[in-house]
Order: sequence, then structure tokens, then C-alpha cells
Amino acid sequence: MEVNYVKTHDHDLVPHKGFKLINGTHDPDDVDQIYNLEIRDSDVFVVTYPKSGTIWMQQIVLLLEAKGDLTAISKLSKNSNADLIPWIEVIYVARNPKDVIVSYFYFHKLANMLETPKDFDDFFEKFMRGNVFGCSWFEHIKMWHSHQDDMNMLFITYEEMIQDLHSVVERIALFLGKELTDEQMANVVKHSTFNNMKKIPQANYEQVPGELLSHHQGRFMRKGTIGDWKNHFTVAQNEMFDEVFHREMADIPLVFIWDIRDIE
Ligand code: A3P
Repeated sequence: MEVNYVKTHDHDLVPHKGFKLINGTHDPDDVDQIYNLEIRDSDVFVVTYPKSGTIWMQQIVLLLEAKGDLTAISKLSKNSNADLIPWIEVIYVARNPKDVIVSYFYFHKLANMLETPKDFDDFFEKFMRGNVFGCSWFEHIKMWHSHQDDMNMLFITYEEMIQDLHSVVERIALFLGKELTDEQMANVVKHSTFNNMKKIPQANYEQVPGELLSHHQGRFMRKGTIGDWKNHFTVAQNEMFDEVFHREMADIPLVFIWDIRDIE
């Protein structure tokens, strides 16, 4: 899709190649360069809809690479195993979309490049119309889920990570072909828990400058749980959401956990 990138005012979402870019933040030329990106066999892609656990998965992948050594993360050297089987690994993290809405709502208050929502109702409407950065959650997950078998992809849910982080980390290690001792594995898990990541400035976005994130508006590592949507959705919003969810996801065999009490 050809689009004239005309700078209007901040926060505008500008359609570009089937995606929406944030006016003044993303340059379409930079995005176009992604198509020419040289991909190495050893590359791992972490793919998520916003607010689904991106930073969490990045932390785990980095820690697996560093064999659980937190201090080594910053000194990581690139994997030069160019003669690996030519497979690009993709880890997709999906999160129950009701919690995504809530997490995204608060992130809009924090992130200055995103328009501060009038209120939760206003944001809910925009999300349901896919009129947010990242577009429609439903389209995103359906597209990636349907390509699962075409790619070397590991499909993980945020809720599985909450439920049993250790076994998810083991699955990721296996998928990436990483061999760690029990102690190293335990360290990966330890440094990936919500409470520990909250204390790591890089994971909590604390070093991101104030022009980009209004730190006084809240913390990036906010609640890290399942079911906070129950504190925000009205009964009518929940009914409307369920109806759309069942219609859109009818052919997708994905089961989400909507309440932390279901796994405790
Ligand atoms: P909440 O706002 O619900 O707390 P992303 O990195 O894709 O932007 O996702 C951010 C969400 O993941 C936030 O959700 C954040 O708290 C949560 N998160 C990050 N690390 C986590 C962890 N170790 N355990 C649980 N949730 C985590």
C-alpha cells in the first residue's frame, strides 16, 4: 500500500504496508529497510502483539544465551555458528487479549509517543477497532498462528509462563538447542521472575529518557499477572468482547487462561 507520509500532529497512526506507524516516531523508510535485512541462520525472532510479554521473552532468551549469568548479558558476543541448519527460530508469545487491553491502556499513559487515552472506555473502543499501534490483536494472532507450521516457530503463552516458568524456559532452551546445567537453568528462571526483573533497570525501562516515557505515570513492569481486566471491564464490555472473540477465533485452537485463580 502506498502512503503519503505527511507529518500532521503527534500520535497519529499512519497506515504503511498494512501496518500502522506512529507519526513522528517511525520513519517509513526505516521500516522498508527491514525487507532488506540480512538474516543469519542463528537469528531468533521474538514476535508479540504489544504488551504480551516481549521484554519477558527477551530476558529469557538473553539469559539462556548467557547460561543464566545476568552480568554477562551486556557482554554477549554474537553467535557465529553460521553453519547451523539454516532455520530461523521464531518465538511467538501470545497473551490473553483482555489483559493485553489493560496493559496497553496503562502503557499509553506511560509512553509519550502514544496518545494518552481519554479513559478506559475510549481505549477499549479503539483497541476493538484495531485502531492502535500494532493494529488488530485478532488479525495479528490469526496470521502468526496460521503460519506456525511454515516456520520454525515456538508458540508460547504469557499465561503458561506465569503458570510454570521453569518448564517454559526448558521448552525454549530445547527449541533453541541450548544446553544448560540445572544450576544455570535455575538462574535463568530466577532472573526472569517478575519481582527480580522489576529491579533490573533495563527490563523496567527505567533508563528510557523522560521525553519518551513519563516515568511518573507508572512503571513498565506494572502488575505482571492474569485477570487484571476484571478490575477494568464493564459487564457490557466483557460480553461484547466475548462475542467478538468467539467469532474471530472460532477456527483457532488456542485456549487462554483468563483468571489467575484458574491456575492456583
Ligand atoms: P502488565 O502491564 O499487565 O503488568 P511487553 O514487554 O510486551 O510490552 O509486555 C509488558 C507486560 O509484560 C506488562 O504487563 C509487564 O508487567 C509484563 N511482564 C514483563 N515481565 C514479566 C515477568 N517477568 N512476569 C510477569 N509479567 C511480566
